[in-house]
Amino acid sequence: LASCPTTSTSSLYVARRGFSSESAPERKVAILGAAGGIGQPLALLMKLNPLVTKLALYDIAGTPGVAADVSHINTRSEVAGFVGEDQLGEALKDSDVVIIPAGVPRKPGMTRDDLFNINAGIVKSLSTAISKYCPHALVNMISNPVNSTVPIASEVFKKAGTFDEKKLFGVTTLDVVRAKTFYAGKAKVNVADVNVPVVGGHAGITILPLFSQATPKANLSHEDIKALTKRTQDGGTEVVEAKAGKGSATLSMAYAGAIFADACLKGLNGVPDVVECSFVQSCVTELPFFASKVRLGTNGVEEVLGLGPLSEYEKEGLEALKPELKSSIEKGIKFANQS
Ligand code: NAD
Ligand code: LMR
Repeated sequence: LASCPTTSTSSLYVARRGFSSESAPERKVAILGAAGGIGQPLALLMKLNPLVTKLALYDIAGTPGVAADVSHINTRSEVAGFVGEDQLGEALKDSDVVIIPAGVPRKPGMTRDDLFNINAGIVKSLSTAISKYCPHALVNMISNPVNSTVPIASEVFKKAGTFDEKKLFGVTTLDVVRAKTFYAGKAKVNVADVNVPVVGGHAGITILPLFSQATPKANLSHEDIKALTKRTQDGGTEVVEAKAGKGSATLSMAYAGAIFADACLKGLNGVPDVVECSFVQSCVTELPFFASKVRLGTNGVEEVLGLGPLSEYEKEGLEALKPELKSSIEKGIKFANQS
């Protein structure tokens, strides 16, 4: 298989040949958690996306201000702010894509799983509303721990009778963004040309960058590959520590979230060969959810692509990540079914 994403930095918001964004169909995007650290810059980036015609910004507080601000930008979409549960239905109604960066971020010393107790409940209630008000939307889950929040959403949708495995995505694009940046720095190649698939999940060792498939090829030593792998796995923690108690990645995450949402919109609009890595329901391994390259189409996931050839080091990483990923998935499923 070819290397991972086709929507590179340079192609964000640039229509592919034969697909004019001005004549693209009307598309509504809702952001839940839109007043937060990720939500605000993500609202800005989605306002800049010519594929969006309606942008609904929802949060429990603060969205009227964010919406008023963003709405003055002279681009295609109409922006509306929604605040509080009473307005959640209106925010979601008719959405094609719902992006969820709602919930608390990490502080130094915390794992993503430490966020479970608060974020699981938030994701559960937002997923319940999605199943009621826009059951056909593509859901882009950013809230951590992604390895558990995606299974929670799937169980909520199953109970509501609205689950479609083609429409639920854990957003792992930031892992790909980091892997590309770190690889380009080490390999001394143009970052805009770099592709690196990242598979597995979105926490620590469950993040498995496949540098053996990275392009352009470079002659990196095994020590270099090990260091790049560790830095990609610890990328989130690097930012959490640098922010020293003021949260986790927000700007790079907004960028990554905007790339992934743009890929979903392009897929919905029938643009061919849109491939991104994402944490989805999967048969690639024995685990029910797994991140790998996914081809996006008019119904969401068109094809979950396989892993391709792995190095011995990557094969070991794959086996090592499975127990943790399995237990995070099971934790999410159990939570959704017991409460
Ligand atoms: P933040 O605290 O700055 O913003 C979160 C927002 O969610 C706040 O505005 C808050 O009011 C809102 N919120 C809380 N409960 C809500 C509810 N029930 N409905 C709607 N909105 C609600 O946090 P942040 O830095 O924006 O991070 C948000 C989440 O994204 C965290 O869980 C973080 O761990 C995660 N994250 C994921 C990735 C990834 O790669 N998937 C990357 C970075 C951060
Ligand atoms: C990230 O990878 O930056 C996010 O998952 C946030 C975090 O807690 O590290």
